[in-house]
Amino acid sequence: MSDLLELPAGDLLAGPTAHRTFAEAFATRGHGRALVTFDDPTAHRRNQDRALALLSSLGTVLAVYPHLGPWSDLSVRTDADPGRTHGIGENKLHIDMVERDLTPRIIALYCVRDDPAGGGASALADMWAAVDSLASADREILKCRAYSYWADEGVHGVGESLERFPIVPEHLEWGFPVRFTSKMGPHLDKAELIDTTLLSADQAAGAFGRLVAAVYAQRTTVRLRPGQLLIWDQQRYAHGRMPLGDGQGDIADGERRLLQQAYVGEAGTR
Ligand SMILES: [Fe+2]
Repeated sequence: MSDLLELPAGDLLAGPTAHRTFAEAFATRGHGRALVTFDDPTAHRRNQDRALALLSSLGTVLAVYPHLGPWSDLSVRTDADPGRTHGIGENKLHIDMVERDLTPRIIALYCVRDDPAGGGASALADMWAAVDSLASADREILKCRAYSYWADEGVHGVGESLERFPIVPEHLEWGFPVRFTSKMGPHLDKAELIDTTLLSADQAAGAFGRLVAAVYAQRTTVRLRPGQLLIWDQQRYAHGRMPLGDGQGDIADGERRLLQQAYVGEAGTR
């Protein structure tokens, strides 16, 4: 990933203002993205504890799935839909919980094991740059509060599910997510997920198709190594997964790629 801010964890946890060091670097030099490398790539428990300390400088660490706590496994399963979370194919660019009122601001992925078959890179794409590259007529179509998506079930601390939402916010700035998932595209093409009393289905599908192409034009990838933590602000960056390497069926369950994911929301108090 070309301009990804890379930081050694040790430097971030020491010093009298350690809790500010990471937050400032993430927001300024990192533009809302960072790759943190822990010095011991096998000390996962300790690394994840330290990761939570870093993430707590960015907001409230959520337990979106309360029975799991802050971390949830992103394991690889050969029987899962290849294009979804646990699958072996490409997971197309999207943001998580796209339809939630309080869509989590930050996502962090900690790598326990990388793919022995050499695939499974993480992808990020700058949606602000993508939206900026669109014609203003397309931006206006995407700003209409006319879009919908299926609600995630069993998630907590992320607000209510919005019945209708704009994909592009009025202003591209922190605090206002670009509510983008490329998985919406095939449905808009069939005049689904759109309130056609507000917007013509053809207009919406056309503008959205051009947004998808613009977001993909911004895609960069990074293949996480064990002991690395990728963190991004999903109000600005869409994410996805490149395909896992060939022959996943020949790799034992306990040896396939394993990432663990955490979410950070806005601060709980002001
Ligand atoms: Fe995701």
